[in-house]
Amino acid sequence: MSIRQLSETVINQIAAGEVIERPASAAKELVENALDAGATRIEIATAGGGKALLRVTDNGSGMTPEDLALAVKRHCTSKISADLTDIRTLGFRGEALPSIGSVAKLSVSSRTRGAGEGYRIELHGGKLKEPQPAPVNPGTIVEVRDLFFATPARLKFLKSERAESGAITEVVKRMSLAFPAVRFVLSGSDRSTLELPATGDDRLARIAQVLGKDFRPNAIEIDAAREDVGLTGYVGVPTFNRGNSGHLYAFVNGRPVQDKLLMGAIRAAYAETVPKGRYPMAVLWFSLDPGLVDVNVHPAKADVRFRDPGLVRGLIVGAIREALTRNGDRASSTGADAMLRAFRPGTSPQGAGATPGRFGAGNRDVRPSNVNWTAERSPSRPQGFGETPQAVFSGQRTLLKRRGRAVRCLPASVHRPPVPRALNRARKMCVWIIRWGPPAHRFTKTISSPSREPAL
Ligand SMILES: Nc1ncnc2c1ncn2[C@@H]1O[C@H](COP(=O)(O)OP(=O)(O)OP(=O)(O)O)[C@@H](O)[C@H]1O
Ligand SMILES: [Mg+2]
Repeated sequence: MSIRQLSETVINQIAAGEVIERPASAAKELVENALDAGATRIEIATAGGGKALLRVTDNGSGMTPEDLALAVKRHCTSKISADLTDIRTLGFRGEALPSIGSVAKLSVSSRTRGAGEGYRIELHGGKLKEPQPAPVNPGTIVEVRDLFFATPARLKFLKSERAESGAITEVVKRMSLAFPAVRFVLSGSDRSTLELPATGDDRLARIAQVLGKDFRPNAIEIDAAREDVGLTGYVGVPTFNRGNSGHLYAFVNGRPVQDKLLMGAIRAAYAETVPKGRYPMAVLWFSLDPGLVDVNVHPAKADVRFRDPGLVRGLIVGAIREALTRNGDRASSTGADAMLRAFRPGTSPQGAGATPGRFGAGNRDVRPSNVNWTAERSPSRPQGFGETPQAVFSGQRTLLKRRGRAVRCLPASVHRPPVPRALNRARKMCVWIIRWGPPAHRFTKTISSPSREPAL
């Protein structure tokens, strides 16, 4: 078999295989470019989960027509010259735009500040068109249509439209945590709009926008340093934990990373305080000399290598443990509050004026709010613990499998205990929640009994 040089398009498609795995990877690259260009406002629009359309508009530095022509060429970058040990930007490889343009229909329209007019360049499946004048505001608009039309095999590996658009949301949230001074808007026909106004230096305000306002009262500030590595950020109290690791965020010199070392160290710091199978919440920023960390180790730049991993791990574990010790007696303000409110006469678990509903489930269980709720007439009237509607009404003994455990539904008369016993059980649950965190769905369900509900 003779050896031959591959064409530029095939080389770019091979690179795209690594760099652009799914629409969310393209979104990440385009948002990174906007941030590197110094944008303070970034708007992302999607359709069809990012497969049909992905448009990123920024108010950054923009590009001249000459730069536009180079931007879509492989290995052309304005971000580094020769020194790979001093990378201060999110991008540096000069391969994102040509890679995207080799597998999709890419158009980049840009205008520099002060320039009379803007220009647009197009790259469709590797075929380049010369820059043409275009009416655009200062900044850049990058539009990606029909992602993977040139490599249809990749389309088969994509998830549902909903899952892909969710992955783009996650990318935008992650980037927005790293850059609180930038305003992000994510919209499109496949989603509800996410608007994150700039919060300036107030990182906690941005975290609250992204992770929910519950984070603020449950956050502990971290501010530590060891040798040349600085660590700042916020971690949640141990009882404010979650069922997956999706709320662990780490940024190294402003770059969002999902590094195993960092995530493992955060979990190790909570090892004795967060139960197995639960995950703490944390948003941490590391600042260190760019020479002490290698960011060129992962095709999507999601991973890094520290020159001294032991130091970084020790810093994380030490700083978080010290912060937890400092705030030793604090428990989550969520589950316990709701539970206590539920047993306060005349109040609903969601607070005054709220529509009674299930604990921790928003207001999905909508019921009339004009009832004077008391402990005896609980507003939280979900179906019983592991029981089907049929089991409730027939009162028959049924064995149900739930979460891998056999749950016995007792006859209605046994299942509905007298009030003192129910209160006693609730008291035990309060203690359990204060020790172990917000209530899991199944535990809150046993508080009330269907038989004592008002007829609605
Ligand atoms: N939104 C933008 N605003 C201004 N310049 C941009 C923008 N997007 C891209 N560029 C320019 O185009 C160049 C090429 O972008 P591309 O994303 O392909 O490579 P990169 O960002 O340099 O490196 P990487 O491949 O690691 O992302 C950039 O170096 C930058 O100069
Ligand atoms: Mg880039």
